[in-house]
Amino acid sequence: TYNEDGTWRTDTYTYKGVSFPWYAPLSSLKAMDSFEVRKDDVWICTYAKSGTGWMGEVVWRILSYSGAINTEEPLDKCIYPDFHYRGPRPNYEVIAEMPSPRIVATHLLPSFLPPQLFDVHPKIIYLARNPKDIAVSYHHHLTVSPVSPSYNTYQDFLDEFLSGQIILGDWPSHVTYWWKKKDDDNVLFLKYEDMKKDLRRTVEMICNFLGKSLSTETLERIAAECTFKEMKKRKVRGHICDFLKIDPSMSPFVRKGRVGGWKEHFTVAQNEAIDKWYEQAVEGTGLSFDFLP
Ligand code: A3P
Repeated sequence: TYNEDGTWRTDTYTYKGVSFPWYAPLSSLKAMDSFEVRKDDVWICTYAKSGTGWMGEVVWRILSYSGAINTEEPLDKCIYPDFHYRGPRPNYEVIAEMPSPRIVATHLLPSFLPPQLFDVHPKIIYLARNPKDIAVSYHHHLTVSPVSPSYNTYQDFLDEFLSGQIILGDWPSHVTYWWKKKDDDNVLFLKYEDMKKDLRRTVEMICNFLGKSLSTETLERIAAECTFKEMKKRKVRGHICDFLKIDPSMSPFVRKGRVGGWKEHFTVAQNEAIDKWYEQAVEGTGLSFDFLP
């Protein structure tokens, strides 16, 4: 975590044209080539700051309340194979020893994912979010984590976000790749904004997709336990907060939880630039997002 002079590490490196933070080490990225995927894994694939932890809470509850998972409630419901933050061993080694069903989350762009993901066909939930709220959330996340790259100005951050030089790569290719896969049997493509609008319905969709059957009361209970307010009360994602050196009260994982918060963060010029970029990203795909509640 430290440099030799005692300051935090914040370095990044480039692999196959994409920038990665030091806590996604090259050895872990390379290990993805032979990472063993299990048929009964549930993969949560997201671009950063799209509600991964929120989805993890819902999926864990569905698996737990339906009896598929029998362990105690962990602090972090999903774990990232490409990162290294759970002690001396890289996450992928920790995951390899986890009992099934495992909940695996990743922000990796498709070309970095384990090839087995496309052969074994586990259930994959893709959660997408409008890129304006992602940008604000991502900027905040990097700002409050002293072990992540930081930016002098919001504009500096936005330039990298729009050009795809940001750590973990660009939003357009991430989201449009999974949008094209949305009709695959093992893929459920969801949007943060829809989840926000009707959590109860989203919980039921996920439950059906995972092939579980839960009573109306249990579905309602899950929705009630996964509202923003309830999640804010719990110390969700404690491991990753510890590792990223983030004060849990500043958690970038349960921060504002709003649709349209970006309105307070963009200048007119910045908004026009992101609009133009967004139009190009989704052009001809049929994909669209709600930018306001
Ligand atoms: P904001 O920073 O806009 O508040 P991730 O887990 O992928 O890093 O995503 C984090 C984002 O999801 C944060 O967005 C966080 O507040 C939001 N989030 C987490 N739990 C939520 C919930 N129950 N309802 C709505 N948003 C939630």
